[in-house]
Amino acid sequence: MARRSVLVCGILLLLEICNGNQDYNNYTLIKINPYNDEQVLVANAINATGIEILKNSRGLNDTVDLLVPPSRVNYTRSYAEENKLGFEVKQENYGRSFQELGPPESDELNRTVRTARRRYQKSFHLFEYNSYPSILEFQETVARRRPDLVQVEDVGRSYEGRRIKLVKISANPEAQNPIIFIDAGIHAREWVAPAMALYLIHRLSSDPDVRQNVLDGVDWYILPVVNPDGYEFTRSSAAHRLWRKTRSQTVNSCYGVDGNRNYGFKWAVSGVSTNPCDGETYAGPKPFSEPETQIVRNIMMKNADRMKLYVSLHSYGNFLVYPWGYTGDFLPKQWRKLDSLARSVSNAVQKAGGKPLTVLSAGKWYPAAGGSDDFAFGAVGVPYSYTMELTDGYEFTFPARLLKNVLPQFYEGFKVFGKSIKQEFGSS
Ligand code: ARG
Ligand code: ZN
Repeated sequence: MARRSVLVCGILLLLEICNGNQDYNNYTLIKINPYNDEQVLVANAINATGIEILKNSRGLNDTVDLLVPPSRVNYTRSYAEENKLGFEVKQENYGRSFQELGPPESDELNRTVRTARRRYQKSFHLFEYNSYPSILEFQETVARRRPDLVQVEDVGRSYEGRRIKLVKISANPEAQNPIIFIDAGIHAREWVAPAMALYLIHRLSSDPDVRQNVLDGVDWYILPVVNPDGYEFTRSSAAHRLWRKTRSQTVNSCYGVDGNRNYGFKWAVSGVSTNPCDGETYAGPKPFSEPETQIVRNIMMKNADRMKLYVSLHSYGNFLVYPWGYTGDFLPKQWRKLDSLARSVSNAVQKAGGKPLTVLSAGKWYPAAGGSDDFAFGAVGVPYSYTMELTDGYEFTFPARLLKNVLPQFYEGFKVFGKSIKQEFGSS
């Protein structure tokens, strides 16, 4: 009898996790730290049921961040000890730190929260995390205010039917200028990424002095939320706050595909899960199984000739990585150019008071295939392609109150991207 209930609970627990009901309340955030190159591999290789890897290590003194359930804390500790890795308990009861988002308890509270949310949805704030409807509204507002500069294009629908809209900022759409394409929000929980994309739209469309340097001669295409279903899901309650994937139903009661493992270039050759019930890196039943990744692919293919830079915004860790992502065994022959532009961007961010970005190839960080960066570079032929991991120190729950400090710092990096693309590919 007892055994049976353990089994049933186990299955129920699995279903809950499949579905994304996971509040992490009693989970511990643990950081294990490698001190030499071999240890980096060992640290990244920790892989035990129930432990969720939030971030892999890039090298010496860069931690592997883990969310560990109570039953696995001891295992994690001994793994670190056996392999002489640093071990730091960063936070117990991790889920409590974002409990404010949690589902209200009483009906009355429920109602209050609902009205507050509805009110909130209407107003958009650059330095807050906005609802998807209010993000769409912001996109339209910008286009309405600056019809000379900004166009909004409907590019399709998400799995759950949300409209997805691309913002095109162009001082001269007829000129066939090089295009910089930026997307964000393929990973649901990485809220700072859409916030950055929206901040970019704001600055590019309203700064009086950006015209000359960043807009003249370069068009900016910005897709602020690739995965709106996932984004709204992470906003719906604390138990869903750390959802990463899309929200398509895969098998039985398992949901979601990792959009950044779903692109059709070297699909699934490394760093993916083939288990649809995996919470993190399921590559999908086939390349481009998700409407969201199809949408990004179509934008790239349609504009392939002119697209010269692609940046996919993610969080966290302050990284700026370039292809290949699917392998760390070798680099593309153009890697020096990719590397040097990334370093100029990082310098500009640092000059603006931000932390520098760690620059390297994605695959040397950790190999993972089916990413949008590799697809843009390897299949579409976009000469500069990056994944940018914004912010550090708060994992996926970067506090909204700090957005006003970091977004302008990163923006300085984007100006460098703009200037450099204009210089190399601009017509005059
Ligand atoms: N954190 C990102 C991810 O796991 C990094 C992607 C880097 N690019 C790559 N092709 N592996 O999706
Ligand atoms: Zn991500």
